[in-house]
Amino acid sequence: MKRFLLSHLPSHFLLFFSLLTLVAAKCHVDDETGLLGFKSGITADPSGKLDLWKPGTDCCTWPVCRLSGYIYIENNKLSGHIPNNVGKMTQLDALSLEGNRFSGMIPSSISELTQLTQLKLGGNLLTGMVPDGIRQLKNLTFLSLERNLLSGTLPDFFSSFSNLRILSLSHNKFSGKIPESISTLAPKLGYLELGHNALTGKIPDFLGKFHALDTLDLSWNHFSGTVPKSFGNLTKIFNLDLSHNFLVDPFPEMNVKGIESLDLSYNGFHLGQIPKWVTSSPILYSLKLAKCGLKIKLDDWKPTQTYFYDYVDLSDNEISGSPVKLLNRTDYLVGFWASGNRLGFKLEGMRFVKTLKHLDLSRNLVVGKVPQAISGLEKANVSHNHLCGPLPATKFPATAFLGNDCLCGSPLPPCKM
Ligand SMILES: *[C@@H]1O[C@H](CO)[C@@H](O)[C@H](O)[C@H]1NC(C)=O
Ligand SMILES: *[C@@H]1O[C@H](CO)[C@@H](O)[C@H](O)[C@H]1NC(C)=O
Ligand SMILES: *[C@@H]1O[C@H](CO)[C@@H](O)[C@H](O)[C@H]1NC(C)=O
Ligand SMILES: *[C@@H]1O[C@H](CO)[C@@H](O)[C@H](O)[C@H]1NC(C)=O
Repeated sequence: MKRFLLSHLPSHFLLFFSLLTLVAAKCHVDDETGLLGFKSGITADPSGKLDLWKPGTDCCTWPVCRLSGYIYIENNKLSGHIPNNVGKMTQLDALSLEGNRFSGMIPSSISELTQLTQLKLGGNLLTGMVPDGIRQLKNLTFLSLERNLLSGTLPDFFSSFSNLRILSLSHNKFSGKIPESISTLAPKLGYLELGHNALTGKIPDFLGKFHALDTLDLSWNHFSGTVPKSFGNLTKIFNLDLSHNFLVDPFPEMNVKGIESLDLSYNGFHLGQIPKWVTSSPILYSLKLAKCGLKIKLDDWKPTQTYFYDYVDLSDNEISGSPVKLLNRTDYLVGFWASGNRLGFKLEGMRFVKTLKHLDLSRNLVVGKVPQAISGLEKANVSHNHLCGPLPATKFPATAFLGNDCLCGSPLPPCKM
């Protein structure tokens, strides 16, 4: 998802551009009051950045003026409440307080900032409900409130935002269903993240109408029922995460040219095979299908492309055979997780790609010796297999090797001479 976000964030460049090209302009009295009020609400500013905000200073030495309405104060460890005066800066186009330590509620005065196209309050400690007044911000294209402690049901106000392209509400404590009004975002929304909340109910059919959607994250919620057939119409989707819900079969046939990142892990799926639209994807880099009821022989699975593979998680399925050929076809693999399957092969025959950091082959039928190459990994687990022989020196704990036939040497008991 990270890779993708970059393409969505020209705003950072805009910010720098606008700060550098500003000409001197007198601070509008509302902006001055707004900024000073804002500053007075801050209880800690370890970076000292806000010291610049003094009455009578040229407003454009502050990150706001009548010419350019951007306030980006990101990752500055600012704490305190977001002051209600924030509503005075009515000319603001974009407000980002992302990655600070703001607590308390989002002030209702935020509804006064009707020119806002971007509102980013993610990565703070904000609590309470989303103020209904946000519905006044009709020009929003980017709304992110993710990684806070917000709660209550999602407000049913999305019909206000006819230009919204990015909506991120993940990692909060939202409950209840996906509100009906989200359906009005269908023509333009490209990015929808609602993961890591406590949302319930079925995944609505109308999501299949989001033809511009390329990223959808509904993971770590309590969604139940089937994934709507209408998902077959999400032809642009290339990041899809539905993991850790209570979804059941049948999974719809997708019509995508390629999927970049897919996670369907830990639901009630019994896919049997890895779907064709996954196998044929030319751009896949992250594939996570843990506990998806896969019953395949891994040697028989022939993905079109493996070059970009970074992460593969096939844990807790009924996969037999050997991953050796698959892993030998990857160049950048970082993590391979396949614990809890029936993989049976000689471990010393496996090629360890230089990029590999995480390997979990625990609870399989792997035989042979543990190769020296394993010591170069950050995390490894080959416990509960049929391995034998002396262990190479590693930093891994005993639980990474327990439950094999005859492994010996540190951290397990010494080998008998
Ligand atoms: C939204 O933007 C348009 C221009 O794109 C502008 O004319 C309009 O006034 C803005 N609406 C609000 C509520 O600021
Ligand atoms: C996909 O969209 C078309 C046209 O909008 C519609 O007729 C069809 O029923 C949709 N398919 C699914 C599976 O919803
Ligand atoms: C891995 O691939 C190389 C060529 O790319 C080949 O020479 C080698 O035999 C393969 N190893 C295994 C174990 O398949
Ligand atoms: C290795 O895997 C086993 C079983 O899957 C687990 O119990 C153990 O904690 C793991 N150890 C490490 C170091 O990951």
